[in-house]
Amino acid sequence: MAMEYAKAASARRLLRWQSALTRPRSWVCSSCRNNLAVASQCFSSGSSPAARKPYYITTPIFYVNAAPHLGHMYSMVLADVFKRWQTLLGNRAILCTGTDEHGMKVQQAAANHGMEPKQFCDENAERFEELAQLSRIDYDRFIRTTDPDHVQAVEYFWSLLRDKGLIYETKHQGWYSVSDECFYPESQLVKHVEPFTGAVYMASAETKNKVEWVEEKNYCFRMTALKDRLLDFYEKNPGWVEPAYRMNEVVDWVKNHLSDLSISRPFQRLSWGIPVPDDPNQTIYVWVDALINYITAAGFPAWTPGERQKGGWPADVQVIGKDILRFHCVYWPALLMALDMPLPKKMLIHSHWTLNKKKMSKSLGNVVNPLYAINRWGADTVRFYLLFEGGIADDADYNNDTLVTKYKKYLQWGFGNLLGRLTRPKLWNVQQIVASSFSFSEDTAPRTQMSDVLKQTMAGFEEALGSLAPTVAWLMDQHNPVASIREIMQIGGQLNEFLTQTQPWSLVKSETPADKVAAEKVLFLVAEGLRISGILLQPFLPDKSARMLDILGVSEDKRTFDHAVLRCDPSYGAPIVDPGRTRTDALFPPLIEDMDVEFSGSVKNRKKATTKQEILQTEN
Ligand code: MSP
Repeated sequence: MAMEYAKAASARRLLRWQSALTRPRSWVCSSCRNNLAVASQCFSSGSSPAARKPYYITTPIFYVNAAPHLGHMYSMVLADVFKRWQTLLGNRAILCTGTDEHGMKVQQAAANHGMEPKQFCDENAERFEELAQLSRIDYDRFIRTTDPDHVQAVEYFWSLLRDKGLIYETKHQGWYSVSDECFYPESQLVKHVEPFTGAVYMASAETKNKVEWVEEKNYCFRMTALKDRLLDFYEKNPGWVEPAYRMNEVVDWVKNHLSDLSISRPFQRLSWGIPVPDDPNQTIYVWVDALINYITAAGFPAWTPGERQKGGWPADVQVIGKDILRFHCVYWPALLMALDMPLPKKMLIHSHWTLNKKKMSKSLGNVVNPLYAINRWGADTVRFYLLFEGGIADDADYNNDTLVTKYKKYLQWGFGNLLGRLTRPKLWNVQQIVASSFSFSEDTAPRTQMSDVLKQTMAGFEEALGSLAPTVAWLMDQHNPVASIREIMQIGGQLNEFLTQTQPWSLVKSETPADKVAAEKVLFLVAEGLRISGILLQPFLPDKSARMLDILGVSEDKRTFDHAVLRCDPSYGAPIVDPGRTRTDALFPPLIEDMDVEFSGSVKNRKKATTKQEILQTEN
């Protein structure tokens, strides 16, 4: 077993070394840990603190036509991790989320509920804000497109476009989808047969949402005038869209389908929106209105010369789902370019959550209600599951069984068990172990009987813990929270196995002083693993990580990225909160074994017993 450990550790070392060739090498040994200040700067957003704009992150703003679902929570959580990560690095970061309230879709939904649109929006926006709060999203602004400053920003943006001659009036005709709030060219339509009713209608080939033929007076945005600039920008910035392969879709669309964009609807059809300045018979297209939210929240248009960056624009990362790629990666840069405004620095496109392999969608009714999930599992557990299993590149299928399995493996029996094993026994005192490891001297200490294998294993762990923070920082810099949380999570299991192998509870009882020294070394390494992991987990699991660090007695001012380094904190170990004495008051208590799947309120029971052994054997 120990041999396998040593082999695994050396394989990991090799892997780390190989990947170190392509990433910033910022891990430093404890003696020169001051250099970490330099390391953290290379992952930060700006140069000198005075000139630094806040790191600005956005989520899409959510349609209020129906209740929030898990897909919405996923967009929010991803963005939140980036915000909290920047805060951990010591950078000022701002996060904007909110609701998209105008347009046909919302107008129709309000009418279906027999409500005034504004009242309907007020009620539903509250549900999204509640979701943001319950999901522990650390947002700075919850913007609503009905907010007066946003309405002004949109009106101003429109007049700037008009003054530049980029808006013209036309008789527009085409196929419009209310669900998708966009026109589709005929080449992107199919005849769709409704499975339940047999009704046949024209629909978008991509979304299968119904389209209707529309002929009306519209204002159009001269988007085709920006075609060359857009293509040139994509060519010069191939990494602008992440994952990079999605850029092909964007470029293809601009090359082959770009046309001028209809940016208004007649008031008789769409009354719920922002009127076109100087023409109240027309209402501004909901997507133009919605996209501008990102700059409203950054202070547009009240940007005094040279001060624009203070509000955060250009955004550092805009998180969006793959279904709204075109709006964000074609229309949005085109609108900004038209006014010579800077473009966002990065578009992070995530995939979708499915249920039974079908896209979760309000119209299909197969949505997981995130509020039920949070109520049942707790916010951090749902966040953990979404981040660990969620897809940036590929869709992920939501499954309560998997959630429970991963929880048990990585949280309950991983970090939770490890924390209990370190902090609960009365055989030792963590604070003393930490303190004595700082006053320890190899010259005066009794010679330990540690085998070469154990020494190697410990050295492997030292190295793994030492490189954990820089590795995670590098992954986060690559906008890869999934790989980041996985990197941290594997430490818990490994340290548990290490404890089982080394049995410090036997060593401390030994009469031999050298055994006590060996036990202290082992326990100190475990404590360091928990402390460093706890610090790095803060952006991912804000509540659980805080409690973990409280139980370890890590003081508040020693929880920054710079402290996620070996032997950097000599003062922890005395719990700030009670570690709990029973299974149920543990950091990660057991979950209810009966697993249900919840579909918008209905509950289906599926009993499943999963043994600890089975779960621990499950691979990622
Ligand atoms: N209102 C527009 C966005 C305007 S941004 C200027 C919109 N709203 S939405 O409510 O339909 O979707 C908001 C976000 O939720 C999108 O990023 C979308 O991809 C995401 N999700 C919706 N369903 C999803 C899943 N099933 N899975 C993951 N995310 C999904 O589009």
